[in-house]
Amino acid sequence: MIVALTGTPGTGKSSAAQYLTRAGWDILEVNELASRHGILRSKDPLRDSFEVDPDELQGALASEDYRHGILVGHLSHLLEADLVVVLRCHPDELARRLRERGWPEAKVRENALAEALDIILAEAMENDVPVYEVNTTELSPELTAKAVAEILAGEKEKYAVGNIDWSEEALRWS
Ligand SMILES: Nc1ncnc2c1ncn2[C@@H]1O[C@H](COP(=O)(O)OP(=O)(O)O)[C@@H](O)[C@H]1O
Ligand SMILES: [Mg+2]
Repeated sequence: MIVALTGTPGTGKSSAAQYLTRAGWDILEVNELASRHGILRSKDPLRDSFEVDPDELQGALASEDYRHGILVGHLSHLLEADLVVVLRCHPDELARRLRERGWPEAKVRENALAEALDIILAEAMENDVPVYEVNTTELSPELTAKAVAEILAGEKEKYAVGNIDWSEEALRWS
């Protein structure tokens, strides 16, 4: 089974993944996959991000014979997976985490707004694959990993999509 662990930057994907590695999961960071295959395109200096063609990314994944594990990254839901977990975080807490990581205010705001608007969740729901969401706002990375593990063990209701709504926060970040 291939799982995509996605979410707005700062929701804690990589931090949670460390605990999932300890639990025995084979973790593949999508950024590393893309970089290894030389398909990170032009860097957008304003956003400090690379552009990646989703088809090229899928091709890179296909060439790696990766069949069982967790793809980690804010583009992972664009890859073929059997299940998608979207990490969520209240925009205020997300902004706090990103500022602490030293991100420029423009990028902090851009990501807080994207989170308030459910952008990644909406993208993930476009595919015909089960999607779950975990609210990490008050969870440690370890507890976030536990929640992901619960989903992978079959828990469905607790992490069903639709319980999180930060749309009222959007105006403040736009
Ligand atoms: N559950 C959490 N609670 C508080 N801070 C967190 C949590 N998860 C991650 N962080 C912090 O937020 C920042 C982003 O975490 P990271 O795991 O790199 O997110 P992502 O991989 O989703 O971009 C890091 O500084 C990290 O220490
Ligand atoms: Mg990360």
